[in-house]
This record gives sequence, C-alpha cells and structure tokens, in this order.
Amino acid sequence: MIFPVILSGGSGSRLWPVSREHYPKQFLNLHKEDRSLLQEAAHRLNNVEDTGTPIVVCNEEHRFLVAEQMHQIGQQNTQIILEPCGRNTAPALALAALAARSVSADAELLVMPADHVIKNETAFAQAVTKGRALAAGGKLVTFGITPSSPQTGYGYIRRGNSLDEGYAVEAFVEKPDLARAKQYLESGEYLWNSGIFLFKASDYLAALSQFAPDILEVCERAFEARSEDLDFLRVDQEIFTQCRSESIDYAVMEQTKDAAVVPMDPGWSDIGAWDALYALKADEDTENGNAVHGDVMLHNTHDSLIHSESRLVAAVGVSNLVIVETDDAVLVADRHQAQDTKLIVNALKAAG
Ligand code: GDD
Ligand code: MG
Repeated sequence: MIFPVILSGGSGSRLWPVSREHYPKQFLNLHKEDRSLLQEAAHRLNNVEDTGTPIVVCNEEHRFLVAEQMHQIGQQNTQIILEPCGRNTAPALALAALAARSVSADAELLVMPADHVIKNETAFAQAVTKGRALAAGGKLVTFGITPSSPQTGYGYIRRGNSLDEGYAVEAFVEKPDLARAKQYLESGEYLWNSGIFLFKASDYLAALSQFAPDILEVCERAFEARSEDLDFLRVDQEIFTQCRSESIDYAVMEQTKDAAVVPMDPGWSDIGAWDALYALKADEDTENGNAVHGDVMLHNTHDSLIHSESRLVAAVGVSNLVIVETDDAVLVADRHQAQDTKLIVNALKAAG
C-alpha cells in the first residue's frame, strides 16, 4: 500500500508578505479560492490507487494549522509527525519512512511537497501508477518534468536506459549553476526533478544508511524516543536537533545508482516565489497579461501580478511588477527579481 507523505516544513519566505513564518504559504489559498496548497496536495491523492491516509511532516509550531486543515477536507486520521526544528527533507523523510515501516514492512512512500500545484490530477495519478512497478523492484523513483527554462532552483535528471515505464537515472544534479542549467536545457536530455518521489520506505532507509548514516542514526534515535498524543507524533527534541540539515536530493538522489525517473506532464508548478504564481495565474485568467487578486484597479498596466488583501490597490502605466498588499506590509518588486524577496525577509529577521 502507498503511504502518502506530505512535506509541509517550508517557510515560504519568497512569498512574503502574504506568507509568514507563523502562517506559511502551504496553508494559504494561493491557487484555488477554497483550498490551501496543503489541502490541494491531499486532494490530489483521491485519484491515486491504493493509498492510505496521509502522513504530514511539519514543524511543531504548525501542528494545529495542519490538523485543522486536514480535518476540513475530511482527512480525520492524518498522522502528523512533528519536527522540533527544520532539518530539511532527508531527515523529515527518514522519520516518515520509520513511521510507515513500523506499520507495514513493505510500505511504499509517495512523497509530495505541500507547495506544488498540479492541474491535471488524472495525469499525475497515471504517472504514479507507472512508477509503482519500478518502486516495487527497489528503485527510488522520481517524477520528471520537461524543462522550459534554465531554472537553477531545481534538480536536473539525465535520462539513461529505458526501463519498463520510465528511465534509469544516469545523473542527478541538484540546483546547478546557470551555465550548466542552460547546457542541460539545450541538450534535451535532462528533466527537472519534480520533487515528488515514490519508493519503499525500507529502500529509502537503506539508501540513507549507505550515503548518510549519521542522518539515519540520529533520526532512528529521535524516533525511538518519540511520544504520541492525539494525531501527533513528536520526535525527541534534544536528539533530533543534533541532526545535520540536508535535502534528500543532495543526501541520496545525487549519490544513488538505484534511481529511476517517470516523465510526466500534469501541469506541474512549484509555487516557490511570486513569479511562479504569476506564471500560473496569468495562464489561467489573463487580461493584458496581468494576474490579479482582491480589490484591484488597473489602467495601462501589463504583465504584472497585483494582489490585494485589505485595501484597494490601483496601478497606472506600469508593467512587469509584483505588487502585494497586506494589512501591515506592501511589496513592490520587479517581476523578474521577485525571487529576491527572501532577502528582505532575511534582513527583517536579522533586525529582529
Ligand atoms: N517537514 C519538513 N521539514 N518539510 C520540509 C523541510 C523540513 O525541514 N524543508 C523543506 N520541506 C518541504 C517544503 O515545505 C517543500 O514542500 C518540500 O519539502 C521541498 O522543499 P523545498 O525547500 O521547497 O525544496 P526546493 O524547491 O528547493 O527543491 C526541491 O524541489 C524541487 C522541485 O520543486 C528539490 O527536490 C529539487 O530537486 C526539485 O527540483
Ligand atoms: Mg520548493
């Protein structure tokens, strides 16, 4: 059986000022009016065959947000694993794998980030079905997206020999620099890593023991010393805090020889920053290439994202801007530099 794992530990600083530390992007209705990104991730599972109740791994601070949002969509029995601090995705998935394996020795994990939009849920479910035979055969399966630009924030996968329903992974390069990303894009031989994975819990743990034994060792001890109440599973704070911070991509996917990729085209986007939300929305409801939300008036304004939460926002004669208004902060950014919003958040944090 598939144990879906939703990774919900990010802080979403590039979507400030709407996304905040206490209420980050995955809990916001950024794409659909009536569902948060986390709820969209859970909803996406409805079409996937043979799935059990999801496991959500999140920061301790967000436990009630997760519980409430999962309840709202009828997922009463979600298991919520609480991390006392963020240590990136390799440890988060170690905890999920240990929890799933304690229920079923051959549990498969379908790992889904909580900050993605997938427009075609049927195409996604079909790709997962294709991946299952590969995962059953011991592969660490990723789902690959045909790249459309030389993004440096993604993992790049070089396709190798064709396997049943996908390809062997010949090389996995996490977040290459721009020159290499351009080269990979032009070669036509690489796919983006969607950040969605399928593998047996035992195979992931075996890979960790080979490539990052220190992470596995700390996570095993933190999991052993866990406490459980209601839907929450709390790992030991003191032990988990000692864990190294590392992503699955660097810790395992770049190292292993046992990875496979299933290409998919389900209208996938990673809602990392305002420009990604712009691309998604301008595609859906475009007028002069603008994407708008809330109380907004525009004149001679093009190719911009204008998001209002509490006041009327008017724009005249501007283009390629991101304007985001909230109660206590307003962001105005060049759309092509919207990624750097996190620098403002860092500076705010440093200033206390
Ligand atoms: N529980 C938990 N704990 N979740 C975490 C943590 C953590 O410490 N850190 C990150 N996450 C969650 C995020 O909330 C997100 O849903 C997911 O894990 C992926 O983390 P990101 O930080 O968003 O990763 P990324 O976007 O830089 O890169 C990954 O995704 C890309 C595609 O979106 C990589 O897998 C890339 O290779 C991939 O291309
Ligand atoms: Mg991401």
